[in-house]
Amino acid sequence: MDLMWVTGLLAGLFALHFLQRRFFPYLWIDARYLWKVVRYGLRIELYKVTGRVVTVVDDFMRQAQRIPDKPFVIYQDQVHTYRDVDRRSNKVARVFLDHSEVKKDDTVAMLMSNEPDFLHVWFGLAKLGCRVAFLNHNVRSRSLLHCFQSCGAKMLVVGEDMLGTLEEILPNLQEDNISVWVMSKDTPLKSVNTVMDKLESVTDEPVPAKLCQVTSIKDATLYIFTSGTTGLPKAAVISQLQTLKGAAGIWAFGGKEDDIVYITLPLYHSAASLIGIGGCIYLGATCLLKKKFSASQFWTDCKKYNVTVFQYIGELCRYLCNQPVREGEKDHKVRMAVGNGVRTEVWREFIRRFGDIKMCELYGATEGNICFMNHTGKIGAVGRSNMFYKILLPFELIKYDIQKDEPIRNEQGWCDHVKKGETGLLISEVSPKNPFFGYAGNKTHTTKKLLCDVFKKGDVYFNTGDLMVQDYDDFLYFRDRIGDTFRWKGENVATTEVSDIIGMLTFIQEANVYGVPIPDHEGKIGMVSIILKPNETLDPKSVYEQVVTYLPSYAQPRFLRLQETMEVTGTFKQQKFRLVEQGFNPSSVPDPIYFLDGSEKSYVPLTMDIYDRIQSGKIKL
Ligand SMILES: *[C@@H]1O[C@H](CO)[C@@H](O)[C@H](O)[C@H]1NC(C)=O
Ligand SMILES: *[C@@H]1O[C@H](CO)[C@@H](O)[C@H](O)[C@H]1NC(C)=O
Ligand SMILES: *[C@@H]1O[C@H](CO)[C@@H](O)[C@H](O)[C@H]1NC(C)=O
Ligand SMILES: *[C@@H]1O[C@H](CO)[C@@H](O)[C@H](O)[C@H]1NC(C)=O
Ligand SMILES: *[C@@H]1O[C@H](CO)[C@@H](O)[C@H](O)[C@H]1NC(C)=O
Repeated sequence: MDLMWVTGLLAGLFALHFLQRRFFPYLWIDARYLWKVVRYGLRIELYKVTGRVVTVVDDFMRQAQRIPDKPFVIYQDQVHTYRDVDRRSNKVARVFLDHSEVKKDDTVAMLMSNEPDFLHVWFGLAKLGCRVAFLNHNVRSRSLLHCFQSCGAKMLVVGEDMLGTLEEILPNLQEDNISVWVMSKDTPLKSVNTVMDKLESVTDEPVPAKLCQVTSIKDATLYIFTSGTTGLPKAAVISQLQTLKGAAGIWAFGGKEDDIVYITLPLYHSAASLIGIGGCIYLGATCLLKKKFSASQFWTDCKKYNVTVFQYIGELCRYLCNQPVREGEKDHKVRMAVGNGVRTEVWREFIRRFGDIKMCELYGATEGNICFMNHTGKIGAVGRSNMFYKILLPFELIKYDIQKDEPIRNEQGWCDHVKKGETGLLISEVSPKNPFFGYAGNKTHTTKKLLCDVFKKGDVYFNTGDLMVQDYDDFLYFRDRIGDTFRWKGENVATTEVSDIIGMLTFIQEANVYGVPIPDHEGKIGMVSIILKPNETLDPKSVYEQVVTYLPSYAQPRFLRLQETMEVTGTFKQQKFRLVEQGFNPSSVPDPIYFLDGSEKSYVPLTMDIYDRIQSGKIKL
């Protein structure tokens, strides 16, 4: 998440007294927020001037000196203090230093789930000056291999619970001479190295500090995978600047040193790693880490560990609201939640049931160069802008043609701003002060996210792919996503990736994938419309086999529509638009519709009965 509020905001302070008249109701909230932004911004400016960057990992080591005995991570009832994590990450660094070829500036990929060793490996590699790529462990086989290859890693570190996933790609990795390390004492896999047995024999003394010295704030430090507008996941380049900004997020919302931050989101996403873990380090706070989110366990954990802050995505709040009501639901110490995507009605219900928790919304793409924070607390808004903010973070909302799926150009060929209250595409100017670091590998990915010649010749903007509205009070609201991705269960789904996988089946001529809205759910659910090859019949079981084998569950289309022909008129994109509009109601769509049924291990005809049960929420999606 790129928290753009940090960039040189001094101008904001200088002009504060002008703020009062124009932005009266939010003056002090804006000012307090600006003050924090400015303080943090100054620190970052200092790094730029001196060329000596104190990275998040440096911060961590400082905290380990300052508060060695303070719990840093609590995981499955085990307490790991700052000193513990520091020492164990030293050991991990030593193992790789002594037993592998890896050296400063190499990229190393990690395939691990949420556990303390995720942090030990991450910090250990960072201490060696390596760049670390966090692989999404829901992604399998071919797509996973693509992810690994796209970040140019020479080495892969695999958690003990990920060996099944590893085996799917191991032959390909070994063909490329990739050095593979698993977090266990021994392994039956051939030519795979083990970490745990070596850990015992190395010292926990720090590795030479010069290895992880960083001189430029723009240096890449991590790769985090995101589904872009097309194709397979892409490795977004995360610079030191972005990790430092992310780490200040919880603090900017009012986090404190004695907070206990509950992280149930996957660490391979920027929200949990940069904002959650980074935020705990910045504050010197404690993180309660969970392998996987569990709605039924959530409040039990919060009470047991005195959790004060948690991270959410919209779905998480909804799942909690869907839990049966229990005694004493407001009886906990949680005061704040940081995340994004909570819908207004869910938020109201959440507060009603679980008490007065401050919901801090923030908006930002992992790779983007813009961010908003809901620092005033307006319900439903992702953030608020004012003229100072805008000077420093030059974002615009432009007119967008949803049917053609592209920005509207006027007669002169330029884009137009939307008026306040109208929906537009959010774009942000790319400049040296507001850089966009792009993706690893093929440059076409990076250029595809950019819009050029928007308002004048030669200007460049980052296309967020999000439609937003700015109201008359300058609050910003999220409306929809454009293009070939949709969001489901907090993950981006790239439609082309899904249609490539389904298109591999021999009886399929063409597969068109899109997301359809569904009542009482955030995001959109996947649907595929297919055309068969001549004289072929649909084999629903093999479609099922294909999608569950090759796609993570959030990307598996739940609905399948069997079309005779794709419409010949109009562009490909227009067809998609119409398909989305028609949805999956069997009484109004003229084609056969199928539903992915896990218990039948197949796609089954979507009857009116199933449809009604989906609409009424009786079938869980
Ligand atoms: C892998 O290593 C072997 C033996 O050292 C070498 O012959 C081969 O060319 C290497 N392959 C690649 C893809 O580097
Ligand atoms: C939570 O707070 C209570 C009261 O302040 C305290 O007695 C208890 O030990 C705390 N629990 C943990 C796990 O820290
Ligand atoms: C924004 O934050 C405030 C508290 O600061 C909260 O009351 C409000 O609900 C939040 N808005 C959203 C959409 O979460
Ligand atoms: C990058 O990707 C584009 C489109 O997928 C392809 O045409 C081009 O050849 C690729 N370039 C390289 C250097 O791989
Ligand atoms: C499909 O079947 C029909 C009738 O059996 C036959 O005439 C036609 O040539 C077949 N088409 C293809 C592409 O195999």
